[in-house]
Amino acid sequence: MSECIPLLNTGLRGFTVATTKISDVNGAEGKLIYRGFQAKDLAGKVSFEEVSFLLLYERLPVKSELKDFTAKLAENRKLPPQVIESMKNRPKDALPMDVLMSTISMLADYDPDINDNSHESVIEKGISLISKTATIVATWDRIRNGREPVNPDPEIGHAANFIYMYSGEKPDEELTSFFDTALTLHAEHSFNASTFSARQVASTKAHIFAAVSAGVGSLSGALHGGANTRVMLMLLKIGSADAIDDYINNTLDSGGVIMGLGHAVYQVDDPRALILAPMSKIMGERTGDTRWYDLSKELEKKAKEAFKLKKGIDIFVNVDFYSASLYYYMGIPVDLFTPVFAVSRMAGWVAHVLEEQFAGAAPKPVLYRPESEYIGEYCGKDECVFEEIGERTVTD
Ligand SMILES: CC(C)(COP(=O)(O)OP(=O)(O)OC[C@H]1O[C@@H](n2cnc3c(N)ncnc32)[C@H](O)[C@@H]1OP(=O)(O)O)[C@@H](O)C(=O)NCCC(=O)NCCS
Repeated sequence: MSECIPLLNTGLRGFTVATTKISDVNGAEGKLIYRGFQAKDLAGKVSFEEVSFLLLYERLPVKSELKDFTAKLAENRKLPPQVIESMKNRPKDALPMDVLMSTISMLADYDPDINDNSHESVIEKGISLISKTATIVATWDRIRNGREPVNPDPEIGHAANFIYMYSGEKPDEELTSFFDTALTLHAEHSFNASTFSARQVASTKAHIFAAVSAGVGSLSGALHGGANTRVMLMLLKIGSADAIDDYINNTLDSGGVIMGLGHAVYQVDDPRALILAPMSKIMGERTGDTRWYDLSKELEKKAKEAFKLKKGIDIFVNVDFYSASLYYYMGIPVDLFTPVFAVSRMAGWVAHVLEEQFAGAAPKPVLYRPESEYIGEYCGKDECVFEEIGERTVTD
């Protein structure tokens, strides 16, 4: 038991809990590094498949390796029929993140090597999970809308397959490339809440399905991945530029939160938002309706001014601020924005589970087990009589 606990109720901010070679977020400079590369330099230049390989194998693939990796993703894309059947039995209004979380854990039932915890086997399971996460999200959207699931197409890549499996239509090159870039930008982000959840579960030596489904649960929260859906709902609620001032004032004066602004680490605009914003603009132009992009831009400007005025601080856009309008223009249902985040982040979670279980902090990975300070009741005697603590203790 440690006698001096330096941090309480701080959400571990500023506290380094492990070493990692996977990624780094430099909040002051606005840099996101994947295995030594800035994410902004990879975005649009390498595919999500290449970024996934990079995260898992610590380097970008050569041509033949990429071919094999892509083929492996394609082989793994289909869901077991029993899993699809069980999805069909769920209530149609089940929350997509709940469906994703439980379907991922159900995949463990159909893994013939579930008890094989070797590095090789966990990588295989991880690749399968990266591939199948997209299929689960797309398949659920079909099922809940009373449509038959669309089989993946082995001839097209991961980004195009996701759009094809939920919409039934093959996307063109521009749409594929924008979605692929968005996946690339969301693939990894160091020790954020969901990654820490996945690593914490992995540190118990639980299997990878348990670890990454914990990641999905954590990502579903409003202050984490759930923010992108809420950004779009906020834009729809504001509706037009002339309502922005009132919205900002009402929200800030009532102690509310403006979604898509602020970040636990970045002290400048999120580098990912800077790439997503122009893509949102182009997609808006493509659909002939730049309203949501324009509204986001104006909201960003006015919110930054209002934070300075009312709170005396600078506020910055985070990744969710422009991904919301981008996904909306792509025709992705608003409540699938966060599951789409998970489709991408699965690559990062898998890399972290591997690192936690096989190459974690020296000398060897350890079970996370923080302390807490008890501030509840205590009768103050060597032997407590229940009645002295309170009647509810006895009866509840
Ligand atoms: C992400 C978030 C939880 C980080 O919060 P944080 O670590 O407290 O951020 P900061 O320390 O920079 O906040 C400084 C102040 O600005 C406030 N603030 C930060 N972001 C805000 C937002 N989006 N809306 C209103 N106020 C905000 C904080 O509450 C804090 O106010 P206080 O000093 O009166 O307590 C917060 O910015 C937030 O809730 N953002 C909206 C949700 C979102 O977009 N999440 C996705 C993150 S990728």
